[in-house]
Amino acid sequence: MSADLVHPGHLNILSEARKLGRVVVGLLTDRAIASYKRLPHMTFEQRKQVVENLKGVDEVIAQDTLDYVPNLRQVKPDYVVHGDDWRQGVQKQTRQRVIDALAEWGGELVEVAYTPDISSTQLNTSVKSYGVTPGQRLSLLRRIIDAKPLVRFMEAHNGLTGLIVENIHEDKDGQRLQFDGMWLSSLTDSTAKGKPDIEAVDVTSRMQTLNDIVEVTTKPIIYDADTGGRPEHFAFTVRTLERFGVSAAIIEDKVGAKKNSLFGTEVAQTQATIEEFCEKIEVGKRAKVTSDFMIIARIESLILDKGLDDAVERARAYIAAGADGIMIHSRQKTVDEIAAFCAEFSKFDTKVPLIAVPSSYNHVYDHELEKMGVDVVIYANQLLRSAYPAMLETARSILTNGRSQEADDRLLSIKDVLTLIPEGDWL
Ligand code: SPV
Ligand code: MG
Repeated sequence: MSADLVHPGHLNILSEARKLGRVVVGLLTDRAIASYKRLPHMTFEQRKQVVENLKGVDEVIAQDTLDYVPNLRQVKPDYVVHGDDWRQGVQKQTRQRVIDALAEWGGELVEVAYTPDISSTQLNTSVKSYGVTPGQRLSLLRRIIDAKPLVRFMEAHNGLTGLIVENIHEDKDGQRLQFDGMWLSSLTDSTAKGKPDIEAVDVTSRMQTLNDIVEVTTKPIIYDADTGGRPEHFAFTVRTLERFGVSAAIIEDKVGAKKNSLFGTEVAQTQATIEEFCEKIEVGKRAKVTSDFMIIARIESLILDKGLDDAVERARAYIAAGADGIMIHSRQKTVDEIAAFCAEFSKFDTKVPLIAVPSSYNHVYDHELEKMGVDVVIYANQLLRSAYPAMLETARSILTNGRSQEADDRLLSIKDVLTLIPEGDWL
């Protein structure tokens, strides 16, 4: 079981199991749960503590895969007791594997009738409607990176895009695919406010956007902190972000007039010295009040044509200065230089999460980046880039036609827009 929200259905299964003998519970780890759905509310240790104290439980063992067979071969139980709800749906094959494994030593499957009117899915929906505290949200990023082989973040620049990232999901091959959290991009936040991406949108204004997003979402947030500004200002930004429940700030190693990285060397951009950037990392680390908040160092060497060796040297120095993660950026159309960096990075003794932003090398699949050793993929600007052409076309159509009817086919219906955002059921 996952036993994230323990309900009478679980207790029913345990009481049936007790009648048969000594009860060992296989408790799914965060990693096993995150492989097919959202991270549980409670950590593995918390869930283990709860289950160990349930009546009739003799032992709790970790189950690190959705497949029961490795644990079963170890324990060789006389009986496996499970709810009968797995006879249909995605768990059907898992069930068959359990039956086949039990046959190896003459074990038996005992299925307990599904308890009506209560399910984890129902409880999860209701817990979600309570929202999340800043502290809970902040701690999620480290847990997700730990639990998943690859974490996917998508850009959000207002409440509506935040809701899309929060709620969109696709069911494929028995898995529920969804984004793990939101990237608060400086490019899309600035663009949505009609300003260039040059740190002209100040931190106070960025926080208004952030506030709109945290109001309506629960997933973890990574904040694009640009250069971080002056170190003494960055210290305040870190504290502000922690108060909002943001999980990480990424600062890029540039100084002076910042321009968007994807301009590359077309515009004047100056990289910070290793020493000055390390100092900024250290200031940020000293400023933070929670152990979970992450300061991630973004390396611009490849963007500025400084070469792989410079990028690798900086990565080592930034990690030594306390960076909790490294973001390596590239504006090349091929993934070659990112792959070369990943190969070097994998040789480092100190391991920290590696983040990549495949905007220009967009032919690469996220699973390929995962293979290279990337831990977090950020889709940094695609929602805004898809909305803008659609809005332009509609505006043009209305101008040319002198009415909106021609544009209507491409629009959300009035009925749908009225009900798109439901009133909170907590109201
Ligand atoms: C952003 O999204 O603002 C970023 C990534 O910093 S990039 O635009 O590629 O520089
Ligand atoms: Mg940016």
